[in-house]
Amino acid sequence: MDNIGFLFLNTFLFCTCLASPPNFVLLFADDLGFGDLGCYGHPSSLTPNLDRLAAGGLRFTDFYCTSPVCSPSRASLLTGRYQTRSGIYPGVLYPGSRGGLPLNETTIAEVLKPMGYATAAIGKWHLGVGANGMFLPTRQGFDQYLGIPYSHDMGPCWNLTCFPPDVKCFGLCDVGTVTVPLMHNEVIKQQPVSFLDLERAYSDFATNFITTSAKKKQPFFLYYPSHHTHYPQYAGQGAAGRTLRGPFGDALFEFDNTIGNLLTTLEKTGVTNNTLVFFTSDNGPELMRLSRGGNAGPLKCGKGTTYEGGMREPAIAFWPGTIRPGVTHEMASTLDILPTIASLAGAKLPQVMLDGVDMTEILVNQGKSKRETMVFYPTDPDEKYGLFALRLGKYKAHFYTRGATHSGTTPDQDCPVFAVLKAHDPPLIFDLEADPSEHYPLPLTGKPDLQALLERIKKVKEQFEASMVFGESQISKGTDPDLEPCCNPQCSPKPSCCKC
Ligand SMILES: *[C@@H]1O[C@H](CO)[C@@H](O)[C@H](O)[C@H]1NC(C)=O
Ligand SMILES: *[C@@H]1O[C@H](CO)[C@@H](O)[C@H](O)[C@H]1NC(C)=O
Ligand SMILES: *[C@@H]1O[C@H](CO)[C@@H](O)[C@H](O)[C@H]1NC(C)=O
Repeated sequence: MDNIGFLFLNTFLFCTCLASPPNFVLLFADDLGFGDLGCYGHPSSLTPNLDRLAAGGLRFTDFYCTSPVCSPSRASLLTGRYQTRSGIYPGVLYPGSRGGLPLNETTIAEVLKPMGYATAAIGKWHLGVGANGMFLPTRQGFDQYLGIPYSHDMGPCWNLTCFPPDVKCFGLCDVGTVTVPLMHNEVIKQQPVSFLDLERAYSDFATNFITTSAKKKQPFFLYYPSHHTHYPQYAGQGAAGRTLRGPFGDALFEFDNTIGNLLTTLEKTGVTNNTLVFFTSDNGPELMRLSRGGNAGPLKCGKGTTYEGGMREPAIAFWPGTIRPGVTHEMASTLDILPTIASLAGAKLPQVMLDGVDMTEILVNQGKSKRETMVFYPTDPDEKYGLFALRLGKYKAHFYTRGATHSGTTPDQDCPVFAVLKAHDPPLIFDLEADPSEHYPLPLTGKPDLQALLERIKKVKEQFEASMVFGESQISKGTDPDLEPCCNPQCSPKPSCCKC
């Protein structure tokens, strides 16, 4: 950018920040892969609103979540810290989990509250419910919450309707637990939830929140972790049967419609130019769902693995007047969202070890990333193995590889669960710019420059691991059926009587 443009942009930012701090809308898709959106090249997805965000905003090619499964990825997004620190491992939380995101972790909502922000969470929480709802969003800085507090397959679904007029959900989902509840703040409104009406309820709740906050001239933070496009796919009247891509495409289109409603509301209330909208996804596609699951595009494997398909995600930042439209190849992560939001809002960072870095430079100046490294933990991190892979600049080294059930059914033999844990010494090294599909490990023999790179990677790994203090595992605390949310707590026999 020329100097005048640079000066103008900075003056503009400075003034808007002084005038009123920016609003934040954080959109988080579920099990959506790198290749699933129209703007990332999918030929039959219908995502006009996400494509509009990409066309008018900044689209990332090298953006990472921190875990190939849900709960840990969400913990990192909201705290700016690897899940190993907060104890959200191994695997994910369940309806009756005793643990949850520890209350002494500071979420983005808690960073913004002291700055006078209104905060709301809508959709899939998946960071714990706990005794008396002690881990719900309302205990982690959110004024309001509407949603299913975990995955919508975490309850029997074989009799539930997923598409109009009465198409039953595909598959059984989890049996032996309560059906999934819809909660408003800490109260169950409906059990089981009505999938056909759910997206409408979320959209209305979200647009009301924006309108109310804008009218009061109160800055706001809206966190919308959608259930789309996690299994089982569902969609209501407005989206069902509308795409060429079948159930997955319809579910994605339904989420995209809500994004359209949010954008329209931002425009109507006159806050578009003072709002950062950020979109990304929690982990890679669940390939075992075949055509009902997502797509990793050119990337290797998907959900559950530490290959690129498991953790590299679509990401879009949209802020008219502040973020220039374009594409960035800078490396960034969900870890970086908390520090970036804090910086843009002029809020204090939590006084803890953060793994995220401020990416404001990338957003407003299409500048360089402060992030040089990304580490890849498996779904079950432990101190004995440490990280499975590490990206340094454009190179990624795999110290361990393993397939996953979630990535089953692919022709690539490295992806399914049958690909057991394999140690690599020396690590497999890939040049992700030349070979994003991780097909061709670089030959190290007789290559002194690559040997030097390997030494550097080992050193960075050592330093990182020396800084890593594993928090007490929240998920290993186990489950207690009495903790499963039940709208009629005294009823019997459970879980089937929990119906309202
Ligand atoms: C939260 O409390 C636990 C238990 O006392 C402690 O181990 C952990 O370091 C604390 N985490 C933070 C972020 O302060
Ligand atoms: C599912 O619906 C059928 C037909 O209404 C009913 O007979 C069956 O008991 C239901 N199963 C469960 C688990 O609710
Ligand atoms: C918002 O920003 C865009 C792009 O800079 C500009 O064209 C538009 O006029 C602005 N709208 C308002 C209401 O300020």
